[in-house]
Amino acid sequence: MVDNVNLRGMAQTGCDATTIGVLDLYMGAAYYVDRIAEAGLTAVSANVLDESTGDLLVPPYVIVERGGVKFGITGVLNPDFKIRTDNDIESHGAVVSDPVEALRKYIPEIRRRVDLVVVLSHSGLTRSKDIAGEVEGIDIMVVGNHNAHAAQPYEVGETLMMQPGYRGQAICDYRLGFDADGTYKSYSGKTVVLDNKVPADAAMALVLKEHKLMVEAASKQRVADQATERRLRREARNAAAAERYKEDCIGVNGSCKRCHQDEYDQWQTTAHASAFETLEKSLQSTNPECLSCHTTGQRDLPGDGSVTVPADLRGVQCEACHGLGAEHSRDGSYGRTTVATCIGCHDSDNSPDFNFPQYLAKVTH
Ligand code: HEC
Ligand code: HEC
Ligand code: HEC
Ligand code: HEC
Repeated sequence: MVDNVNLRGMAQTGCDATTIGVLDLYMGAAYYVDRIAEAGLTAVSANVLDESTGDLLVPPYVIVERGGVKFGITGVLNPDFKIRTDNDIESHGAVVSDPVEALRKYIPEIRRRVDLVVVLSHSGLTRSKDIAGEVEGIDIMVVGNHNAHAAQPYEVGETLMMQPGYRGQAICDYRLGFDADGTYKSYSGKTVVLDNKVPADAAMALVLKEHKLMVEAASKQRVADQATERRLRREARNAAAAERYKEDCIGVNGSCKRCHQDEYDQWQTTAHASAFETLEKSLQSTNPECLSCHTTGQRDLPGDGSVTVPADLRGVQCEACHGLGAEHSRDGSYGRTTVATCIGCHDSDNSPDFNFPQYLAKVTH
């Protein structure tokens, strides 16, 4: 599901420019550039470059005119921030250069064309203040990636700082005063916290509602897809299990009995031969949890009871102890048993009194 609700919302507020933040490249630089274009937004950055070409990823600045005053808006990202990406993305494909150098390069050019220079500084508070102090010609700086908002605008050198905090929880509602000839004179205003007292914008609420519906539908779809995937996996596993019984386990009646009548007769006297009847008596003969030990060669049964044990593999047969008949050799190596043969089934839960020599004596033929 792709719904860039932030971008849609931003476009709807009439936002003039945005800059690249540390989470924006999560799906890679190319993805970001496409989504910004799709939303009809303008992104500016003076120091985020395309890794492969070395060119700026988005235009360095944009010029916006309001009430006869021209604003040049540029942006920078703090190169010390670690850009995180989705696991499926090999590289975000961007390089972040030194913000001070980048601004020194572009600001004189911007100044020649506008009345006021605005820098969107996605750099945190300390770094933003440093940049404002080091670079000449910044009239207004918007401090991004800092968690606290400042109630009032403040100055660093010649630069007016606006600090709205994070996650859109506050907004800087500042008014700039100009002389009749368009010269910037003064500022006033404050930061407004967007709490319950600020009524929701109906159009924006609709954007959010649409988004939530979309997320909900996508989550439901994902759950359904996962269920389908699980079912397909289970079916494949069951088919493989069924195949294995057919191929590998021969069954006592189909094979061993024919050549090993004495062993067969003795085995018939043991509880192993009637282990499946025990489950039938307990009304548990289809419970996959029980079948693994009370039948032959059914170790990886699917847990949903979808595989029924073939009649000729019921009970603890010869192959449960001696191994698959298909591996019967004539060199004396087949069918060796040790205590390990027994304890897979005779575990402490199901056979608490298990004692190897005593138990062995009862089954040896
Ligand atoms: C595939 C699982 C499995 C393996 C392997 C296995 N057993 Fe058993 N064994 C059982 C089950 C199940 C029973 C109980 C059968 C019943 O009563 O229905 C049982 C019962 C017995 C009993 C009868 C206990 C009693 O006195 O009632 C003896 C003895 C025994 N096993 C010995 C062994 C020995 C020795 C080995 C190893 C050489 C061994 N078994 C390997 C599953 C297994
Ligand atoms: C990990 C292997 C294993 C599993 C799983 C297992 N059993 Fe057993 N079961 C045994 C063994 C081994 C014995 C023999 C215990 C002994 O005599 O020491 C046994 C014995 C029994 C007995 C007693 C037989 C008698 O002597 O009367 C019953 C009943 C029984 N199992 C039922 C079940 C049921 C029902 C399930 C599933 C809920 C189950 N078993 C799951 C291994 C298993
Ligand atoms: C509970 C485990 C168990 C089961 C089930 C079992 N056996 Fe055995 N079998 C043994 C043990 C233990 C020996 C002793 C030799 C050894 O240590 O390998 C043995 C030995 C043998 C031998 C060699 C005898 C010899 O004189 O050297 C044959 C053949 C044999 N079994 C066949 C069978 C056949 C056929 C079946 C099924 C009808 C069967 N076994 C079922 C445990 C088992
Ligand atoms: C066509 C006859 C035949 C069938 C079927 C057969 N066996 Fe054997 N088995 C033999 C012979 C013969 C030997 C003796 C090995 C030898 O000395 O060549 C033997 C040996 C064994 C041994 C002892 C291994 C040894 O080297 O002493 C075991 C255990 C055994 N068989 C188990 C089984 C089991 C379990 C089955 C069923 C899955 C089975 N046999 C099916 C003929 C058969």
